[in-house]
Amino acid sequence: MDEVFTLFERHINPGLAGLLRFTGLDRVEDRAEGVYVWDRSGKRYLDFLGLYGTLNLGHRHPRVVEAVKRQLDRMPMSVRVLVPEPTARLAERLAEVTPGELSMVFFGNSGAEAVEAAIKLARIHTGKPGIVTTEGGFHGKTMGALSLTPRPAYQDPVRPLVPGVKVVPYGDAEAVAAAIDDATAAVIVEPIQGEGGIRIPPEGYLRELRRITAERGVLLIVDEVQTGLGRTGRFWGVDWEGIAPDLLTSAKALGGGVMPIGAAVGRPELFAAFRENPLIHSSTFGGNPLAAVAALAAIEVTLEEDLPARAEAMGARLMKGLEALAAEYPHLIEEVRGRGLMIGVEFADADIGALFISELAERGVLTAFGLNNPKVVRLEPPLIVTEAQVEEALDRFGEALLATDRALEGIL
Ligand SMILES: Cc1ncc(COP(=O)(O)O)c(C=O)c1O
Repeated sequence: MDEVFTLFERHINPGLAGLLRFTGLDRVEDRAEGVYVWDRSGKRYLDFLGLYGTLNLGHRHPRVVEAVKRQLDRMPMSVRVLVPEPTARLAERLAEVTPGELSMVFFGNSGAEAVEAAIKLARIHTGKPGIVTTEGGFHGKTMGALSLTPRPAYQDPVRPLVPGVKVVPYGDAEAVAAAIDDATAAVIVEPIQGEGGIRIPPEGYLRELRRITAERGVLLIVDEVQTGLGRTGRFWGVDWEGIAPDLLTSAKALGGGVMPIGAAVGRPELFAAFRENPLIHSSTFGGNPLAAVAALAAIEVTLEEDLPARAEAMGARLMKGLEALAAEYPHLIEEVRGRGLMIGVEFADADIGALFISELAERGVLTAFGLNNPKVVRLEPPLIVTEAQVEEALDRFGEALLATDRALEGIL
């Protein structure tokens, strides 16, 4: 056993170490480049997990790395009592690339912090406490964001949660309309549920939510932490339906796969409280210059290389191959679904999925479950993935499915 794995197990997370061991991933990572990762034994993996939808540009995209190195030699952290240029430029750029009137930004360091900011901005602006969220929704694990993430395994051990949250079925706009009352500040929704198991809502759902929230004077928060920056085949997930929310949260791929950053982008009136009370919400590290230059580079690369279109094309290729495999193994796979390079393979049960993940890892391809739905193995490779890499991964999927099938025959 590698000493580093033992340290992780002893000092960080023994339960997770156990799960990794079960899936044959009790290994220590060493280096990464593009779509590939190497462990310390020199084994190479195709990274088809992409840090849960973070590595849209792959590992160590040269333009992001170069921007960060340059900033590192100049001024990595803001003193905060002077104004950082990269952060201001990034806010301007986010205003340009987000839809509608979204033009003010709060920066944090993660998706959960972006969601926390959105909750606070919505409460401050409306003077109301209530938020409507969806079953299977995932918005992070800090107390506020967790309160909008209705999974008992994460919520129950830390109750009481932030009050005022109502949960409705995902994809059902009428249920949202019925849940809104006089105490509702906002509705929060993912354009496609990521951790919930890559669940795609019915066509027109987001448009309908936009109509209902506008009519009822309630804010619409769209959580694009996982769907943003081209992942689904459009720059933002909302672009599929051409709507503009009141607040949009982004993180993960925003940092170019090199730096952590989160942002809540909103209409200017939602930030009015900062005029009276400039420190009503703040973060020491949020939007620091290192992260900001990474995000600026990430946005430019995504647009210049037209990565949303690439995600759509490569996603279609991957889906086709997966559907063919699902037809070969209908007793193992229930459904393949996805949009762009946000793809879920739903197994007949979670144990079969776990076996498949470990067979696949042995063959050099990394994947994982959805955090809110362990039956679904999600595939979120970098958007720079080549056709040859997609084909290579599909070959490994085929082999791993055959091995999973044989192993199950042995057990049953
Ligand atoms: C839609 C969505 N929102 C929020 C989060 C939380 O982001 P973070 O893990 O950076 O706090 C995630 C993470 O998976 C997510 O998928």
